[in-house]
Amino acid sequence: MFNSQLLIVAVVAAAYIRSASSFQSGSDYDVYKTTNLYNCTGHVPVSNVTVPNAVDTLPQIEPCEGHGWEQWSLFLHGTFSMLLRWNQGDPSSYVSSPAQFDVLIVDVNGTTVQGKVVGDLAYTDSDHVKQIVIGDNSLTWDSDGLWYNVSVSIDDYHLTLDSFSATLDTFHPNVAFHNGLLDSDGWFGSVPLLRGHVVGNLYTPSKQNITLSGLSVMRHMFSEHPFPLYINKYTGGTIWGHSTTFYDSHVFYQTETVNGTVHEAAFLGRALPGKRGGFSSTWATYAVTDDTDLYHLSIDNATKQINASFSGCASSSASPSTNDVPYQFNVITAMTPLVSFTDLGGGKTSYYTLVNGSTTAPFDGETKHGAIAGMFEVYEAPLKKGGTRDA
Ligand SMILES: *[C@@H]1O[C@H](CO)[C@@H](O)[C@H](O)[C@H]1NC(C)=O
Ligand SMILES: *[C@@H]1O[C@H](CO)[C@@H](O)[C@H](O)[C@H]1NC(C)=O
Ligand SMILES: *[C@@H]1O[C@H](CO)[C@@H](O)[C@H](O)[C@H]1NC(C)=O
Ligand SMILES: *[C@@H]1O[C@H](CO)[C@@H](O)[C@H](O)[C@H]1NC(C)=O
Ligand SMILES: *[C@@H]1O[C@H](CO)[C@@H](O)[C@H](O)[C@H]1NC(C)=O
Ligand SMILES: *[C@@H]1O[C@H](CO)[C@@H](O)[C@H](O)[C@H]1NC(C)=O
Ligand SMILES: *[C@@H]1O[C@H](CO)[C@@H](O)[C@H](O)[C@H]1NC(C)=O
Ligand SMILES: *[C@@H]1O[C@H](CO)[C@@H](O)[C@H](O)[C@H]1NC(C)=O
Ligand SMILES: *[C@@H]1O[C@H](CO)[C@@H](O)[C@H](O)[C@H]1NC(C)=O
Repeated sequence: MFNSQLLIVAVVAAAYIRSASSFQSGSDYDVYKTTNLYNCTGHVPVSNVTVPNAVDTLPQIEPCEGHGWEQWSLFLHGTFSMLLRWNQGDPSSYVSSPAQFDVLIVDVNGTTVQGKVVGDLAYTDSDHVKQIVIGDNSLTWDSDGLWYNVSVSIDDYHLTLDSFSATLDTFHPNVAFHNGLLDSDGWFGSVPLLRGHVVGNLYTPSKQNITLSGLSVMRHMFSEHPFPLYINKYTGGTIWGHSTTFYDSHVFYQTETVNGTVHEAAFLGRALPGKRGGFSSTWATYAVTDDTDLYHLSIDNATKQINASFSGCASSSASPSTNDVPYQFNVITAMTPLVSFTDLGGGKTSYYTLVNGSTTAPFDGETKHGAIAGMFEVYEAPLKKGGTRDA
């Protein structure tokens, strides 16, 4: 047990220096953007934010830099529910080492696979291939951000996942008009991979080779310093709403500060199922930050209910037959987390599965009902004795 929280916080205050120079050259973070990238804009197959984003997914905190934190987390929904996380350091501590890779695969024929590898984070930034690696666990993508491929070897399980990025785009929240900013003070996040259709296989210690298929969303967050003390918690969620005719992906971030200020960023995109598990068509409908006209989110921690809604879109050539029908996602998460991680600074990150819920969404000018799937994440800042934050 470490009880060095006060000491760590004191060091942080002294070392709090913002330097934009450590962003990967060519990265798209911290560039001024419009507030709402998509607002019922419909089919935008290749937007002009796409290409630099292959660089955005690289480490923005140099592994040798020694301070700051960074996290890539991939959720898979399909044959199995999966959570994969590559971390450098922790949100509530000052040091960016060690790096840690975490894997959780739910109910592989009755066994929940959970493991971690502590080591160094290495990365490759070549013209054609970009990669991050911890131990034998890599995430590899190309310069066009088309494929994000995973290779994991842990405890005699071998996992490969190849994800095709269906929308060719990235969602960057936009607090204070800065691209990727999640709060007013130097915390960045993005969703580099949306609604990718994932195929792969899991080779188990009992020599089964299980074919995998599903959808994935990956989130990337980082800051050059631990969370400022005014951040109480953040939540993040991925909710897929699906019917036989459409597949909607809703991703959100919510930051809450001690004085009650909340920032909310949300993305909504749709894919239409195509032949053989692919998509015949995909488009982004909303990417909004702090816009209560377009997006409502309410999270009740006691009842574990989350309701999210986007206002409807008028029919246009870009978003046909939507007839102002809103998008609604009502879900209930499990009471207890699927898994929790306590970081070196004492912050706690918990992941919850969704137990049930439903979506209503427009299709062909009418309101349709659909089923849901997804994952909900809560980060809670460390408490000091007596239950209040360190100051
Ligand atoms: C979004 O689009 C709606 C409908 O076109 C419009 O009324 C609204 O002003 C837009 N909001 C923003 C923030 O762009
Ligand atoms: C992106 O494209 C839109 C529409 O074509 C244009 O208005 C905007 O200025 C472009 N943004 C950048 C950063 O090039
Ligand atoms: C394990 O689960 C996979 C995926 O559901 C299935 O294809 C496979 O047959 C199962 N194996 C056994 C031994 O039950
Ligand atoms: C990812 O996997 C796909 C499908 O197997 C392959 O075509 C692509 O070249 C791979 N890309 C990278 C960067 O590994
Ligand atoms: C499992 O199956 C995949 C595809 O069918 C194959 O590429 C892979 O080599 C197999 N893995 C093992 C360890 O046999
Ligand atoms: C709350 O704190 C944040 C961050 O320090 C600050 O930007 C915001 O103005 C504060 N809001 C109020 C209502 O005091
Ligand atoms: C979510 O919506 C349901 C149904 O309208 C309502 O009963 C519940 O109170 C809402 N919960 C939250 C957290 O808004
Ligand atoms: C949610 O509620 C539980 C118990 O009801 C409490 O222990 C936990 O701290 C709360 N979490 C947040 C993020 O408020
Ligand atoms: C969850 O399931 C219960 C019981 O079947 C149902 O009453 C409730 O409406 C469901 N909640 C949502 C959000 O669909």
